[in-house]
Amino acid sequence: MDRGFVQREQARLLRELSEFLAIPSISALPAHAQDCRRAADWLSDHLRRLGCPVVNIIEGPGHPVVWAETPRVPDRPTLLIYGHYDVQPPDPLDEWVTPPFTPTVRDGRLYARGAADDKGQVFCLLKAYEAVLDSKGVPPLNVHFIFEGEEECGGRVIFDLLHSEPERTRADAALVCDMSYYAPGWPAVYTALRGLCYAEISVRTLERDLHSGTYGGVAPNGLETLVRLLGQLKSETGEIRIPGLYEAVQPPTKEELDTWQRLPFDQKRFLSEEVTGKALTGLTDRSVYERVWALPTLEIHGIKGGFIGEGAKTVIPAQATAKVSLRLVPGQQVAEVGRALERAVAALAPTWADVKVTVLHGGDPVQVDVSHPAFEVLNEAFEAVEGRKAVQVRAGGSIPIVPDLGLTGAPVILTGIGLPDDGLHSPNEKLDLHQLWNGIEIFGRFFELLAEKGGEASTGYSSSGVMRLTGPE
Ligand code: BES
Ligand code: MN
Repeated sequence: MDRGFVQREQARLLRELSEFLAIPSISALPAHAQDCRRAADWLSDHLRRLGCPVVNIIEGPGHPVVWAETPRVPDRPTLLIYGHYDVQPPDPLDEWVTPPFTPTVRDGRLYARGAADDKGQVFCLLKAYEAVLDSKGVPPLNVHFIFEGEEECGGRVIFDLLHSEPERTRADAALVCDMSYYAPGWPAVYTALRGLCYAEISVRTLERDLHSGTYGGVAPNGLETLVRLLGQLKSETGEIRIPGLYEAVQPPTKEELDTWQRLPFDQKRFLSEEVTGKALTGLTDRSVYERVWALPTLEIHGIKGGFIGEGAKTVIPAQATAKVSLRLVPGQQVAEVGRALERAVAALAPTWADVKVTVLHGGDPVQVDVSHPAFEVLNEAFEAVEGRKAVQVRAGGSIPIVPDLGLTGAPVILTGIGLPDDGLHSPNEKLDLHQLWNGIEIFGRFFELLAEKGGEASTGYSSSGVMRLTGPE
């Protein structure tokens, strides 16, 4: 790897990344469809400039997927790299110190929507690849890049693509860099990801809004009905009241619980600096890590209904809608949980209300076997740069396509260069530049080590079977 790369090229790298981050590729907002396209174009141009002979923009009913293949190097392993170029909406805008799509460096941190999730991390991998090219532009291994533009909004373009062409996932390993370190100086690989079941619950109790004086006391209030119903879906102590929900939950193994207990964790700091609340809630008889990594959740994201304008309006709302989601853990499945939610809501609905549940999107949870030799290779790279191997943790968040990346047997490596306080989905999202520079070095080394050792495996050099990077046929 070109050791001076980061040092020498910092200014250019920062310029390039800022250009990418300045594109407001907000996948959930139809008004930004063109911007998503621009982000996909930016990636394709970049991949072409890096020398990829195959760069495709693959269309579908939503934002396109970018696919690229590096110059073919025979007898070298193939790495599939996944990432997403779309970002979350940046609101509330007035809480940003500098505008979300005007990337700005303050105190060694780059602030912008998508800085960590996931454009900055996608960029890190592109530059790590650039850094390992030889003077003729030949890479040490084969890379297939697949970047989607609908990770944050639950689109199906990448799902359709991989279902009709699962061969695209055939690789010696798949790398997903959309997560964070456990803490500064503590890289992480993830042994599980939670799934998600995102739904809308709507309630109608009247044909039209009514005067709350004339009819108050007798007319069923749509908003009240919805809020009561939501309140019954979870107990005050955090137990979700959806019959059967916990049955399929596989509890963490003893080894996992032991590992988590040994992690340095400062609950006070976590509460005041990350959570920024007065107390942690939920199933307080379970550890924090169990609650955020290994148990399902139910959250209310927003409620629409009634009057919220200036001043006062005395009205009985005829209807109301809530957006909610459940995080799922290994053992659970979106389709099943969606049906269980529908049944639970139907059972709680009073006779005077028409209640509808619509599952908007979701993704199944995943469990990852980190015993594959590719994880050892990554650890070597982490150790070289950070002086520490990755800790094995779980992720509370979700990446819906991950189960499908392993369809043809490639081990899926979930990792990242972010830090826990990057503020994903929040105002003032950032990426520490130190993490980016180190990340380029780490993944550059990873590519080279994988190339060496994977090469041995595919030529049968490593007869011990210690290093076999090819997935099951
Ligand atoms: N990068 C996150 C996933 C993540 C978050 C992993 C925290 C590990 C820790 C990803 O981009 C994301 O936010 N996903 C959404 C998916 C959803 C909209 C289907 C999520 O988890 O809410
Ligand atoms: Mn992400």
